[in-house]
Amino acid sequence: MVVVMTEMAVMAETMVTMACLNPPFPQAGTMRVVVIGGGVIGLSTALCIHDHYHSLLQPLDVKVYADRFTPLTTTDVAAGLWQPYLSNPSNPQEVHWNQQTFDYLLSHIHSPKAESMGLALISGYNLFREAVPDPFWKNTVLGFRKMTPRELDVFPGYSYGWFSTSLILEGRRYLQWLTERLTERGVKLFQRKVESFEEVARGGADVIINCTGVWAGALQPDPLLQPGRGQIIKRSMAGDPHPANSPLNQQVDAPWIKHFILTHDPERGIYKSPYIIPGIQAVTLGGIFQLGNWSEVNSPQDHNTIWEGCCNLEPTLKDAKIIGESSGFRPVRPQIRLEREQLRLGSSNTEVIHNYGHGGYGLTIHWGCALEVAKLFGKVLEERKLLRNPPSHL
Ligand SMILES: Cc1cc2nc3c(=O)[nH]c(=O)nc-3n(C[C@H](O)[C@H](O)[C@H](O)COP(=O)(O)OP(=O)(O)OC[C@H]3O[C@@H](n4cnc5c(N)ncnc54)[C@H](O)[C@@H]3O)c2cc1C
Ligand SMILES: *[C@@H]1O[C@H](CO)[C@@H](O)[C@H](O)[C@H]1NC(C)=O
Ligand SMILES: *[C@@H]1O[C@H](CO)[C@@H](O)[C@H](O)[C@H]1NC(C)=O
Repeated sequence: MVVVMTEMAVMAETMVTMACLNPPFPQAGTMRVVVIGGGVIGLSTALCIHDHYHSLLQPLDVKVYADRFTPLTTTDVAAGLWQPYLSNPSNPQEVHWNQQTFDYLLSHIHSPKAESMGLALISGYNLFREAVPDPFWKNTVLGFRKMTPRELDVFPGYSYGWFSTSLILEGRRYLQWLTERLTERGVKLFQRKVESFEEVARGGADVIINCTGVWAGALQPDPLLQPGRGQIIKRSMAGDPHPANSPLNQQVDAPWIKHFILTHDPERGIYKSPYIIPGIQAVTLGGIFQLGNWSEVNSPQDHNTIWEGCCNLEPTLKDAKIIGESSGFRPVRPQIRLEREQLRLGSSNTEVIHNYGHGGYGLTIHWGCALEVAKLFGKVLEERKLLRNPPSHL
């Protein structure tokens, strides 16, 4: 059971907080953290902070505010394939954060949690029309190698490619899993639109963590942040979508698409050519990346582009049933913004830690970013003399 508190509950709580719980200096050891954002970045950051600090710091009060929760976030739209962009990130730390996320997820792959996390191993192809340099993540994924001429024969029109084994982390399932873990730990989720940092700080927050994705710009203008609109079609692998209570088990029905197939056209840019990514229950088809387009409506033209492109690549898709279509905005930025900022409000200081701008690789990099936020959070605690020894493993 997922509990999301309503605005009214939040307001009542805020009033109580302002009336009696908001002394000029928080009581020794008290730490009130508000995470803004209910997508993969916000929820994983909240969990990471709670797990690293709840035993060192009592009371540690963590809350999550978001105006949209699953299934309405950008994270729910993602296919969930672990794969960074092909070019080197402009911030070298991102290489490390991607790697940390892969290793963390891989360490869960045989655990009983994997299925409810929406996590599985998946192999597949990256296809090109000409030779390209190897990507920076070739030693992170498993068994990365160049495709053989016989493999290339399977994909007419492509003359170069890579084969590798990676991971799938389904956005929607993972958000449900994170929500359950947070709820178990007593972290409350509030459905609420935040109009300004000041309002959150006044309501009683020592540290605000900003995980607002593509909407971050509404709270503090950021000219570097833009929407990278994507649209996807979900096709059932079983041909017909079966309702949840159907005696037929979708995962047993021989799904015939077993590999991801991503095509690349470096001239046009990332994710502007067809891709096919099998998830745990459905296959995601895509290939749309429109920078600066804020339209949340599904476009029939984009539908046709995806459909024709993917059927060309994999003609058997013509027989699969569509189970859904959605669009979302990748929070595109030249690099992720992950840093501290102090907000002065009258005489008190509120600490903000920003964590947004994860583009088309938020699931791929989320855990490394959450660990980095946890590290910055530890520095805040040290400075405020709330913690003697920060956790050694961060
Ligand atoms: C078509 C498509 C396919 C993709 N495929 C992949 C993939 O295969 N692999 C991969 O790694 N990535 C993929 N991505 C990218 C991935 O979806 C994003 O990087 C990731 O979801 C970003 O997560 P987030 O938590 O920052 O944003 P979101 O999921 O958008 O969450 C932002 C949260 O902030 C809240 N919020 C914002 N402003 C406010 C406010 N003022 N007050 C209150 N709440 C606020 C929102 O309500 C929401 O809860 C894909 C994206 C798209 C669009
Ligand atoms: C989050 O960061 C973005 C970008 O800097 C900013 O616009 C927004 O105001 C921030 N939100 C909060 C609540 O600090
Ligand atoms: C923006 O998206 C809409 C669909 O919602 C589409 O009709 C339009 O062509 C897109 N614009 C650009 C410039 O891609």
